[in-house]
Amino acid sequence: MGTDLKKVLITKEEIDAKLAGLAEQIDAEYAGRELLLVGVLKGAVMVMADLARAVRTPATMDWMAVSSYGAGTQSSGVVRILKDLDTDIQDKHVLIVEDIIDSGLTLSWLLSNLGSRGPASLEVCTLLRKPDAAKVAIDVKWVGFDIPNEFVVGYGLDYAEKYRNLPFVGTLAPHVYGG
Ligand code: XMP
Ligand code: MG
Repeated sequence: MGTDLKKVLITKEEIDAKLAGLAEQIDAEYAGRELLLVGVLKGAVMVMADLARAVRTPATMDWMAVSSYGAGTQSSGVVRILKDLDTDIQDKHVLIVEDIIDSGLTLSWLLSNLGSRGPASLEVCTLLRKPDAAKVAIDVKWVGFDIPNEFVVGYGLDYAEKYRNLPFVGTLAPHVYGG
């Protein structure tokens, strides 16, 4: 396992510190309100678990699973809902919790889909973003780390369903994905 990783990009300590800072900003923004955190499965489970415990704002959690059709690993922007929210988000303050924004196509679709359901507000918090991969401009209120345009794993992110349980974010050695 150890040799599968090229390097640690972001340590557990750096993630913890960043989420604590984001949670303070989120608490300030939503003071006196209730928050509905919407996690996007499966990648966002770790961010959701840690962020939800870091905020002091009263918060409920719901989940969505989507699949993005496209050639190979590329996101196409054509999204299918695999699991919809259990709750009605009308008049709620919704914060989408994401692991990573790559091309931005999935999130762009999610924003218009959830936006059409009449939430009181709709914002995004993502742990990671690849600015050099962006295909659509999205207004993301809270970003943990901007990272280079490389495939990353760990802390919820997978390669062929592996590595999600690593406590840090790292890049893979080329031999793992046939590079
Ligand atoms: P788009 O391109 O629509 O895609 O912003 C976002 C989704 O693609 C997955 N993704 C990754 N998963 N390492 C991963 O494990 C990566 O480097 C990576 N880049 C994109 C992820 O599911 C994300 O929600
Ligand atoms: Mg994701």
